[in-house]
Amino acid sequence: MSLELAADPAVPAEAARRRTFAIISHPDAGKTTLTEKFLLYAGAVAEAGAVKARAGRRRVTSDWMDLEQQRGISITSTVLQFTYRDHVVNLLDTPGHRDFSEDTYRVLAAANAAIMVLDVAKGVEAQTLKLFEVCRARSLPVLTFLNKYDRPGRDPLELLDEIEAQIGLRPTPVTWPVGIPGDFRGVVDRRDGSFVRYRRTAHGATAAPEERFDPERAAAEEGDVWRQAHEAAALLDEVGATLDVASFLAGESSPLFVGSALTNFGVRHLLDAVVDLAPPAEPRPDEEGLLRPLEAPFAGFVFKIQANMDPAHRDHVAFVRVCSGRFTRGMTLVHGPSGRPFSTKYAASIFGSQRDTIDVAYPGDVVGLVNAGGLQIGDTLYDAQPVAFPPIATFAPELFASVRPRDTGRYKQFRRGLSQLEREGVVQVLRDPDGDPVPVLAAVGAMQFEVFAHRLAHEFGAEVDLASAPYKLARRTDQRTSGHLRQVRGTRVLARADGTLLALFDSPYRMERLAQDHPDWCLAPVLSADSASPVPPGENPAARIE
Ligand code: G4P
Repeated sequence: MSLELAADPAVPAEAARRRTFAIISHPDAGKTTLTEKFLLYAGAVAEAGAVKARAGRRRVTSDWMDLEQQRGISITSTVLQFTYRDHVVNLLDTPGHRDFSEDTYRVLAAANAAIMVLDVAKGVEAQTLKLFEVCRARSLPVLTFLNKYDRPGRDPLELLDEIEAQIGLRPTPVTWPVGIPGDFRGVVDRRDGSFVRYRRTAHGATAAPEERFDPERAAAEEGDVWRQAHEAAALLDEVGATLDVASFLAGESSPLFVGSALTNFGVRHLLDAVVDLAPPAEPRPDEEGLLRPLEAPFAGFVFKIQANMDPAHRDHVAFVRVCSGRFTRGMTLVHGPSGRPFSTKYAASIFGSQRDTIDVAYPGDVVGLVNAGGLQIGDTLYDAQPVAFPPIATFAPELFASVRPRDTGRYKQFRRGLSQLEREGVVQVLRDPDGDPVPVLAAVGAMQFEVFAHRLAHEFGAEVDLASAPYKLARRTDQRTSGHLRQVRGTRVLARADGTLLALFDSPYRMERLAQDHPDWCLAPVLSADSASPVPPGENPAARIE
């Protein structure tokens, strides 16, 4: 079938209406509150209510689960879709903890932009630095929201320096606070110099009324508070910290907004920026770097797999980001890696334990394919015109543990759970090519092991014993080098399911010595959030680094 014949003329316009982004934040910075306020401003909920009972909860599942339960609104644990100003907004969920930065990396493969939420009292928090670096590694355009301005916080100028120094993104404030943290009156909109004054509503349950004044009237009404904000804004002009769309799209500068998700101050500005500044769904490069036109027949890739989201059904869901064409439920696609047909009869948007059938989706949207047992993260699905999107890189593990079932009678359950959780990328599973049957789990963060053990026990009925393994870092290696490494103390060579051989070392020093002494050995770095440098859009980091 020729591309022209298959082209759907509605697709480019639908793709242009899509905005697909994720919110990255330190736990408690306000991601859930902001999400709820986006729904309020988009008219998807009539009133926002505080999300209770969050303190102490482990953030290993979606932060939206309890929001969904309390509000009775349609939120998947992976993607939330709503319309705003005739745009279709897809908000992807990411875990708020650095231990899951690899998961965040995979989700960001499906996003076109991110919002970084910072608590004005705390600034850039060390724990989430890794998540922001992941954003940078993906070269995603990032909007910044300085949240919680309704209560005492730090000097925003100081926070600008901190963002630039720690994240390497040049913040360009679009709005600037009028009033101090704790006595927050509104913002200067630096695009036209006007003053936007907000008024609180009871519990922030409804949109905050806004009035817009020209600078003269603002000075008359707010006096010194306005003059101080005006001076700060002039200083920002002088240092050139001004909205620059080209460098924002290149992932170099970050338009910054101030506000308070709790009282709704600044929420509308931020949501407008998602629509006005964040890029729409764009043609995606394939493995060769060739762009798949939006109007080409359907193509998408799996960026997340989750089993047992609904304990009653024990199903596998593969989340597919649509990259080209129109998805229609029931169409039979080709599973790229195997060349086998794949039926999409059970396509859904997943609402936690509830699911709605999806009939049609366009580039930028996410489709949940239920009972997608044969799919892996990174797999491409297409219709008519073959394409393969680049694989999603796996991070260099930093923590290792050997794992055994506590009860050997439950070995079958253990094997089943192990292979499922490996497919989901909960942990990496390394096996000994020489036959030691005890697998070694590898992770970026310790909580991955906890989630693994918990899910194995609760979803598969197999309690496990984990014993920490004495390795500190991994390098990609080959058969020849692994033969040599077998003779070296403090190292071990194990294989990932995709066949990649990883050499594990008990000390970075030993690895460096070996690399120096044997320059012909293959000891290649594996992608890591710490070392990941910005990748030009469209470039496959896996191909570049591995
Ligand atoms: P998270 O998803 O990023 O983890 O953060 P979440 O929205 O749950 O917010 C964490 C806490 O911060 C919540 O308080 C929330 O109400 C509060 N918060 C969020 N945005 C703002 C803001 O703009 N100003 C102020 N003052 N607080 C804000 P909590 O006490 O944990 O829960 P709750 O009982 O208030 O819901």
